[in-house]
Amino acid sequence: MKMNFTFAWPLMMGAMLGPSLTTAQGLNISAIGTANNASTLECWNLAAPPFGAAGAANYPIGNFTNSFVGVIPPQTYIGQAWARQVRQIVLESGLARIALPTRPSISSDSEAYFQAGEILIATDLQSLSALGHITDFPSSVDTTIAQFPVAGNVVPEHKVLHAGRCSKDD
Ligand SMILES: *[C@@H]1O[C@H](CO)[C@@H](O)[C@H](O)[C@H]1NC(C)=O
Ligand SMILES: *[C@@H]1O[C@H](CO)[C@@H](O)[C@H](O)[C@H]1NC(C)=O
Ligand SMILES: *[C@@H]1O[C@H](CO)[C@@H](O)[C@H](O)[C@H]1NC(C)=O
Repeated sequence: MKMNFTFAWPLMMGAMLGPSLTTAQGLNISAIGTANNASTLECWNLAAPPFGAAGAANYPIGNFTNSFVGVIPPQTYIGQAWARQVRQIVLESGLARIALPTRPSISSDSEAYFQAGEILIATDLQSLSALGHITDFPSSVDTTIAQFPVAGNVVPEHKVLHAGRCSKDD
């Protein structure tokens, strides 16, 4: 039987990466989203499925423009903030605290800490969120954050897994 390459390719990939690929899971990423003119803190599952190469599952995270690294002094309390642009952020050192101002009390759904090595996406543009979010850098050392503005300022296709930042189980 002659097999069309377009069909054969995903079948081969499925065999290489195991059964999880049948649900085409992309990367899980903590997100500052928006709903009803307010910021949200959520765990997202990006729609772009991984591609295999050299034994790795490679998760596409999009295209970026004018990336930069920000260095923030110890114990910087910024308070109210918005995403100036849709951007992915990778903490390289220090600590960032993100909280939502709109909830009656602080909970794990409305407050999260991010440490070195963690990644998140911020999408709460001022046009989409009246009050934005709270950003603080409470570490006693500099907080270094690599910022990757998403080309075209577009929010990547995703599913919301749950409220609150992604956990070790996501
Ligand atoms: C990234 O850029 C490449 C090359 O222009 C394009 O083919 C691809 O669709 C872009 N990916 C996204 C997620 O926009
Ligand atoms: C969001 O709320 C602000 C402040 O109340 C208001 O000015 C703005 O029009 C609202 N935006 C939307 C899209 O509802
Ligand atoms: C994303 O999180 C879900 C659980 O919420 C988990 O089943 C899935 O394996 C995670 N995906 C990746 C690529 O880690």
